[in-house]
Amino acid sequence: MKIHIVKDNIEGAELGYSIIKEALENKSLNVFGLATGSTPISFYDRLTASDLDFTDVVSVNLDEYIGIGADHDQSYHYFMNEHLFAKKPFKVNHLPNGLETDAQKECDRYDAIIASNPIDIQILGIGENGHIGFNEPGASFDSTTEKVSLTESTIQANSRNFDSIDDVPRFAYSMGIKSIMSAKKIILFAYGEKKADAIKGMIEDTPTTDLPASALQNHQDVIVIVDEAAASKLTK
Ligand code: F6R
Repeated sequence: MKIHIVKDNIEGAELGYSIIKEALENKSLNVFGLATGSTPISFYDRLTASDLDFTDVVSVNLDEYIGIGADHDQSYHYFMNEHLFAKKPFKVNHLPNGLETDAQKECDRYDAIIASNPIDIQILGIGENGHIGFNEPGASFDSTTEKVSLTESTIQANSRNFDSIDDVPRFAYSMGIKSIMSAKKIILFAYGEKKADAIKGMIEDTPTTDLPASALQNHQDVIVIVDEAAASKLTK
């Protein structure tokens, strides 16, 4: 893993932008794996403020809540439209369909999309408990797209975006850890002290399913972009 400690999320976004710019120039970014959450917003802002052209690029998002549709303002479809797609058109945007009630059908559909669109660069955030996508502690490193139950800590963390905690969906469709690991390059952003334990475990501790992001130690090309607070528990 290559670790970059940046001053703040603006500097992190600039670094992420320069990697994407170079990949587009080299024609090595055809499929772009994307994440939602508060962390990548500064990066998406940087992309939308640029003249980068994504009209030949396919996007594949990590996850979507189950039970809410694309027009719900807390759905990940809505988030992506707001923060990126409405301003930067892509060739095609793929996200799991949160309204599909047949989980097997939806997971198979999404795995087929990933198989026919191998991800060149995957953007990740990280949960306080070390989750990536919605792969919560205990998720198998061999997982592909699954219907997952959100843990209490993730429901708590995500409730900040909903009117009440009861409104937070309890299930999501998420790309699996194996699918994330199949990306050629991974860029993980993390900011703030709340992420410090997860970042320490991800980078320095022995990989364990108790901390899903630690699987990334087995990937050949991971760039970690963190601020000082998120890096504050690193010892090496
Ligand atoms: C979002 C996702 C999640 C978030 C994580 C961190 O698509 O897959 O794993 O990256 O929950 O969320 P924030 O950035 O809001 O702290």
